[in-house]
Amino acid sequence: MSNYYIKNLEEYFQIYRKSVREPENFWEEIAEEHFVWRKRWTNVMRWDFSKPEVAWFENAKLNITENCIDRHLHIRGDKTAILFEPNDPAEKAQHISYNQLHERVCKMANVLKEKGVEKGDRVCIYLPMIPELAISVLACARIGAIHSVVFAGFSSLALATRINDCDCKMVITSDGSYRGTKTIDLKGIVDQSLETCPGIKSVLVVKRTGASIVMEKGRDQWLQPLLDKASSKNKAEIMDAEDPLFILYTSGSTGKPKGMVHSSAGYMVFTAYTFKNIFNYQEDDVYWCTADIGWITGHSYIVYGPLANGATTVMFEGIPTYPDHGRFWEVVEKHKVTQFYTAPTAIRALAKENLSFVDKYDLSSLKVLGTVGEPINEEAWHWYNNNIGKNKSPIVDTWWQTETGGIMISPIPFVTPTTPTFATLPFIGVQLALMDERGQELMGKQVEGRLCIKYPWPSMARTIWGDHKRYYDTYFSAFENMYFTGDGAKRDAVGYYRITGRVDDVIIVSGHNLGTAPIEDAINEHPAVAESAIVGFPHDVKGNALYGFVILKEIGESRKPENLRKEINQQITEHIGPIAKLDKIQFVPGLPKTRSGKIMRRILRKIASKETDNLGDISTLLNPEVVKAIIKDAL
Ligand code: WTA
Repeated sequence: MSNYYIKNLEEYFQIYRKSVREPENFWEEIAEEHFVWRKRWTNVMRWDFSKPEVAWFENAKLNITENCIDRHLHIRGDKTAILFEPNDPAEKAQHISYNQLHERVCKMANVLKEKGVEKGDRVCIYLPMIPELAISVLACARIGAIHSVVFAGFSSLALATRINDCDCKMVITSDGSYRGTKTIDLKGIVDQSLETCPGIKSVLVVKRTGASIVMEKGRDQWLQPLLDKASSKNKAEIMDAEDPLFILYTSGSTGKPKGMVHSSAGYMVFTAYTFKNIFNYQEDDVYWCTADIGWITGHSYIVYGPLANGATTVMFEGIPTYPDHGRFWEVVEKHKVTQFYTAPTAIRALAKENLSFVDKYDLSSLKVLGTVGEPINEEAWHWYNNNIGKNKSPIVDTWWQTETGGIMISPIPFVTPTTPTFATLPFIGVQLALMDERGQELMGKQVEGRLCIKYPWPSMARTIWGDHKRYYDTYFSAFENMYFTGDGAKRDAVGYYRITGRVDDVIIVSGHNLGTAPIEDAINEHPAVAESAIVGFPHDVKGNALYGFVILKEIGESRKPENLRKEINQQITEHIGPIAKLDKIQFVPGLPKTRSGKIMRRILRKIASKETDNLGDISTLLNPEVVKAIIKDAL
């Protein structure tokens, strides 16, 4: 395990320099020492960002589930792999050992095969945070099917778009899901989606809530009876290093979501190596990431990264506020959680509550805290540090993206001195650049620009499913020979990075990426709406909230504004899901536009943020008078 843990800052710089000077040698050593391969690679890496084309560990053969499960069986077969904490604290937690996980994944893999799923087929997984979600993901990987997990908060329309975009053959879902006191009819949502998804041949249904649901004959089947009959032996499919492992959708600047495609070998190597170093995972630790497996954080740091390290990974079905605001801390005490990884939104929400919700519990097991998904503000950082970490657990503020597959900027705990709001230093092997708008790299310290990555890393997405051109256009066309992240960042006097936020049409609300285009498309479908524009504005819990400026079709639209607002949000809920609902909706006579007809979002953002003192020069607008009218009625 020579170079697996980074011990001190000097060693970090030493390893970092090596990873930049000789990236191929560096990653080859990691791949050789820490994973099992069916066949060795013939070439470590090949790249050409002008296409873009990237391949790691070319021609190697492997199965990621042999790395995440099988190889642990003889050394830690009885160790808990997945620790499932149900929504209801009265329901018993489940400790699924590596042996049991192996058996359950093999059975599930055999069920999938029996249902005709073959290597390369796409399987849509629409499940709550129950063990079957992780098991389904792993079972797909075992047989070489490409999983496409869709977060179970997405609406039926959003689900259908994702199923059709990558031609899924099967959906795995449940009769329902629990969220605090609510139950959600997941199967009903799936049924609605499938009215427009002719490619779906079968639906496997996990029993969770016991709600009564409709089973369509010839298409839908309960999963359990199939598992009961299935063999618990399954030979893992041998995959090529570059075979796609999964597709995961993320928002973009058009209404169509982007299906990011991740590879097998590079993804495995990078998520495993980052997991161990960034969370300082030790053999007896209990690691808990509160994300949902429906997002990249769950893929990389609940399932693959932790399991590749033989870790115990907690899967939490519930929400931070049920049965009360102390739930997270109750679970930390109960399972003696050592690493806790969450989103700033959750921290801000809990920080608003009485400290007694925290102080009731013994949090002394915690060693490392993490945040992900959005910038953390200073106040929330201090609250987390003081009250949860008791000033002794380093906070790793990890910056990364669905597209990057793994963590790209982060402190190494006990190694990198942390500064609130700074994600600090690039991870090993990650070569960052800050660019100005003219495409020049900003050198030196104390600069601010667009965050780019100059060199491939093993877990980068390889393409957008079915649209390689869009992959190039979105990420590789803005700056020559670089991957452009869509974020802005600052580099300070010591070389630390601070993410300043998105510089494109994506808004991060409660850590979820939302594209303005799909939301506007949803609103514009309302019969009374002529045009709309969405911007983000600061929100003390969610980080950003959404503000919609909406032009109605008929002047004097007779319905009450309140009703229209409700209908618009309903429309968004149906098209995307409740996460994309607007906090504020203002009906406006027009939208500020440039002479070429482009909406000036910069002005709308200022109005939404109540920063109207300095709007800049608006005289060049097509319709400057509209700005005054909007400001007058701003909410
Ligand atoms: C934002 C989540 C500031 C950023 C893993 C990025 C962050 C987008 C941080 C990706 C952080 C993520 N500090 N901003 N530590 N982490 N972001 O694809 O804007 O859901 O581009 O991946 O979240 O979101 P995604």
